[in-house]
Amino acid sequence: MKVFCSQILGLLLFVTVLPCKALINYTFIVEETPYTRLCSTKNILTVNGQFPGPTLYVTKGETVIVDVYNKGSYGITIHWHGVKMPRYPWSDGPVYVTQCHIQPGGKFSQKVIFSSEEGTLWWHAHSDWSRATVHGAIIIYPKKGTSYPFPKPHAEVPILLGEWWKKDIMEVLTEFVQNGGDPQISDAYTINGQPGDLYPCSKPETFKLLVDYGKMYLLRIINVDMQDILFFSIAKHQITVVGTDASYTKPLARDYIAISPGQTIDVLLEANQSPDHYYMAARAYSSAKGVEYDNTTTTAVVQYNGNYTPSPPSLPFLPDYNDTNASVNFTGSLRSLANKDHPVDVPTNITTQLIFTVSVNTFPCPINRTCKGPNGTMLAASVNNISFVNPKIDVLEAYYYHINGVFGTRFPSFPPYVFNFTAEYLPLLLELPNRWTEVKVLDYDSVVELVFQGTNLVAGTDHPMHLHGYSFYVVGWGFGNFNKDKDPLGYNLVDPPLQNTIAVPKNGWTTIRFKADNPGVWLMHCHIERHLTWGMDMVFIVKNGPSPEVQLLPPPPDMPPC
Ligand code: C2O
Ligand code: CU
Repeated sequence: MKVFCSQILGLLLFVTVLPCKALINYTFIVEETPYTRLCSTKNILTVNGQFPGPTLYVTKGETVIVDVYNKGSYGITIHWHGVKMPRYPWSDGPVYVTQCHIQPGGKFSQKVIFSSEEGTLWWHAHSDWSRATVHGAIIIYPKKGTSYPFPKPHAEVPILLGEWWKKDIMEVLTEFVQNGGDPQISDAYTINGQPGDLYPCSKPETFKLLVDYGKMYLLRIINVDMQDILFFSIAKHQITVVGTDASYTKPLARDYIAISPGQTIDVLLEANQSPDHYYMAARAYSSAKGVEYDNTTTTAVVQYNGNYTPSPPSLPFLPDYNDTNASVNFTGSLRSLANKDHPVDVPTNITTQLIFTVSVNTFPCPINRTCKGPNGTMLAASVNNISFVNPKIDVLEAYYYHINGVFGTRFPSFPPYVFNFTAEYLPLLLELPNRWTEVKVLDYDSVVELVFQGTNLVAGTDHPMHLHGYSFYVVGWGFGNFNKDKDPLGYNLVDPPLQNTIAVPKNGWTTIRFKADNPGVWLMHCHIERHLTWGMDMVFIVKNGPSPEVQLLPPPPDMPPC
């Protein structure tokens, strides 16, 4: 709903151009709704009864108010993934980091502040595993008078790649948290909420993209799944990547893409094949040795309009489940558009150098319990050997009101132990992390270079790392251990992609850069949900700048109480 400035309109009847911003308002009712997939029905948490949830449409630089009502039976929070929320972490959403749960019966009016983002982002629940069904797209149009840096598409379609369990998602969560093992694998992947033709009871509802021959379509692809990076492809059609994480890229024509949980990839699809039905399909890229994964394939149909007898659609080529090269080749080919209208601003003159290891770990099984982790342990995960423990009141509140004893400020800038991180065999002793609540404090405007170093502890795998409050430039990556003398020589400081989520390759490293110019409390975590549950998260506190315009804004009056 658009609220126009009616009073001003009345006064300035003769003024045609009003310097008056439209304020957009959305209402999100979080509630249980029955949905049937794969021949079985369950209640899922939805927004406004919809699965996937409603799409937010905004224009670059706008501010949106979303009134979130929790009519469900347990507490939730909502996060605006990739929206930088300048100076306003209050509405960012991660539970125990910037707020406590919106309790059943509660309401939180969230102000979502867009700034430089343009393209596709998404929103999702950020508490427990609710985001499995509580999520939706965010489409950010160019400002009036500007346009896309590519030919205007005939139509735009969000493509949400999701994941479905027949079991209640809270039960899936409770079970693996208690038994210390891997979570039960999902029963299906989905495209716009539908598993597709290859699953039981699904065919009549398979998502169909109707296209006209000769027209161009913009697919806003979002990986909203819980557990895996996905390969995605369309039979007999090339697609051209034009953006990722609400930032434009140089056009990149490919037969397939690899997309991490959390990431968005905008692609152009030209309907230039003979009118017929063609499958688009997605399936897992799963690199952790010995870890079970959902090996099913979700499909939707690209269906040409017109009069013809369709042939049975064939599946597109998708790389193998464990094809790490196929994943990194794609991800490593992304480049910022970097032109006059969309320049890059890659930080140089680094003031804060950080190296964070990202590891899967184990804890000994508590006495009198049996655990399903490797050798009877409990699985865990860490950043710089700290498995993050959520505090009882959120870090932001404790920081803002100077409440002591909630978090420590000793998150290490470098790995506490240096070893051959990616060696094939590692001593078991190294698997044990610390369970702490530590944050890294950054001075306002510090220029940060952060190297993520994957390790082969327990099982090396890819980690799509996501930072709240910022986008960052991905300046380099490689396999093995990061070499501080050699590797920086290969950094791309000319047109690195600007992202909010980047997959650190299995047993490899990735370097990102950002300028800490957004004061607040910002979560950073792996977007593979089990890794987050196990503690692969940490928090940055970015201090206020010297003057009021570069300081944290005050909290809204209706922050959910802890
Ligand atoms: Cu998609 Cu912490 O978020
Ligand atoms: Cu991870």
